[in-house]
Amino acid sequence: MRIGLAGVGRIGAFHAETLRSLDTVDELVVTDLDTAAARSLAERLGVAHAETSEALLAGGVDGLVIATATPGHSPLLRQGLEAGVPTFCEKPVASTLEETLELAKLASASDVPVHIGFQRRFDQGYQRARQAVHDGELGFVHTVRANTHDQAPPHATYIPTSGGLFRDCSIHDFDIIRFVTGQEIVSVYATGANKGASFFSEADDVDTAAAVLTLDDGTLVTLSATRYNGAGHDVRLEVIGSDGTMGVGYDDSLAVTSAQEGVDFPKGPRHWSFMERFLPAYRSELTAFAEVASGSRPSPCTVDDALQAFRVAEACEISRHEDRMVRIDEVAAT
Ligand SMILES: NC(=O)c1ccc[n+]([C@@H]2O[C@H](COP(=O)([O-])OP(=O)(O)OC[C@H]3O[C@@H](n4cnc5c(N)ncnc54)[C@H](O)[C@@H]3O)[C@@H](O)[C@H]2O)c1
Repeated sequence: MRIGLAGVGRIGAFHAETLRSLDTVDELVVTDLDTAAARSLAERLGVAHAETSEALLAGGVDGLVIATATPGHSPLLRQGLEAGVPTFCEKPVASTLEETLELAKLASASDVPVHIGFQRRFDQGYQRARQAVHDGELGFVHTVRANTHDQAPPHATYIPTSGGLFRDCSIHDFDIIRFVTGQEIVSVYATGANKGASFFSEADDVDTAAAVLTLDDGTLVTLSATRYNGAGHDVRLEVIGSDGTMGVGYDDSLAVTSAQEGVDFPKGPRHWSFMERFLPAYRSELTAFAEVASGSRPSPCTVDDALQAFRVAEACEISRHEDRMVRIDEVAAT
């Protein structure tokens, strides 16, 4: 199978290495607006490169992986759909709700499969928690706690086009809360702060945020996000029920120091980036995309799934700006 990859920045270069190592991928061709970066990665990995995404698609590929900066997703996803090429697209599908809605319509009217990159769905811990909820192992679930704490901010130029902390970062939590609980989020109350670099507030963004979400069965969720967690990359979920509590992300890499005397948990080492934290999940995700591209399985995460997570992020932004509770049905669904 010949796979094309657009965007060779932080996640794109990492995905290129994973794709190159998959048995099902015989050939990889990479492209980037920064042609020198694409050429240099191609040389380093011993794969092909194309000068433009148009040239990449014209050369014939069995699957397209979009890992460009977020504003590049929408035009490339359209190109992939028009060319009839199964497409993997990094989250978020687009920077705005309007574009996300349009792409959801286009994708649902097309036979071409699209797989959106919410890699937590492939993490063993989240899968185990989902099974426990599904099997009733925790009794009735009443509370969920979700954290996404990045160790350090991305480069300053990333922030203005990222869509903001909720659309760029907490969107992973919104998706995985739906995946684990099987419930939809119906309302949010969100707030944020900028205590770090000023480039966040200059982009009308925040570097730290909190939200209270309500699910459609009444379960309450508290959510926390930050770009500044010097202790390490810390992504966790706790599901609390009448018969038990299950935690995802609680192992020896946990980026927390216990204040209890004599306690040496966690023993470390910690994760310092999302690449380390989710290494096996990213591999499983791209293995699954190769199966989607070969037609042997349906997309495990559709544009419509991504739209539902995006609506929650949009509601959080409205809530943060207007300082009020926002129902998700205030945010357009079609
Ligand atoms: N799933 C995850 O865990 C995860 C983690 C990090 C980033 N992401 C997503 O991946 C995307 C890329 O993030 P990043 O951190 O790698 O960003 P980055 O800024 O490091 O890299 C982006 C790359 O895209 C290239 N590019 C921009 N527009 C392009 C276009 N139209 N065609 C071709 N190349 C183009 C840039 O030149 C750059 O090399 C973002 O949408 C981000 O939300 C997902």
